[in-house]
Amino acid sequence: MRTSLFTFIIILCLGGIFALNLDAQDQKIISLPAPQTDGGVPLMKALKNRQTSREFNDRKLPDQVMSNLLWAAWGVNRSDAKKRTAPSAMNKQEIDVYVSTAEGVFIYDAFKNNLIQVSNEDVREKTGLQDFVKTAPVNLVFVADFSKMGTSADPDKEKYAYADAAYISENVYLFCASEKLSTGVRANIDKEKCAKALRLKPEQHVILGQAVGYPKEKTK
Ligand SMILES: Cc1cc2nc3c(=O)[nH]c(=O)nc-3n(C[C@H](O)[C@H](O)[C@H](O)COP(=O)(O)O)c2cc1C
Repeated sequence: MRTSLFTFIIILCLGGIFALNLDAQDQKIISLPAPQTDGGVPLMKALKNRQTSREFNDRKLPDQVMSNLLWAAWGVNRSDAKKRTAPSAMNKQEIDVYVSTAEGVFIYDAFKNNLIQVSNEDVREKTGLQDFVKTAPVNLVFVADFSKMGTSADPDKEKYAYADAAYISENVYLFCASEKLSTGVRANIDKEKCAKALRLKPEQHVILGQAVGYPKEKTK
């Protein structure tokens, strides 16, 4: 009896240590190179080339491109005022950009210019209902944290969150047009499944997804 109790306690402790290790691993932080903020094609050319694509090469984006992409999307462009490349209703800055890749799920920390790993699972297929989400190397998910949006009613929070996410999405479109990357925004998401895969808290809501990658080579 005493032996089996001892064994049980050992199993519990090992389980606890294993869980702690997993948590620590999940919290890995990846520093991004400083974004290159002075390049790109003229704005009018980027607007001319902006378009939705649904075909992607599975080639990984280099860290520098990832940093530039995320800065364009929702980076800090006025650090003194803690303000960003996209506008935000009442400056609540409630949107977090989640980055889903083959390596796992990350949150973009714009102020520290790094990626915080929240999962080491490849959950790309859960970030949308169309086939291309499985193969696009990056699926961004714009997540609104309603707890950062004060006391207004949820429908109002949702309207502002959609508008705020749409500005970020358009920044991504223009960056991709400038860099000859493919991209497509998506509302077609099973939001419950996606929220689970991203390990969201109840106050966090999936708003839109957006796939990014190199264009698929044309086959003759
Ligand atoms: C709010 C919003 C949601 C969208 N959702 C999807 C989607 O779930 N799947 C998809 O393939 N395209 C989606 N799109 C892309 C549109 O289909 C696309 O913008 C439209 O066909 C016009 O094409 P263009 O972006 O190349 O001009 C969405 C666009 C917006 C603005």
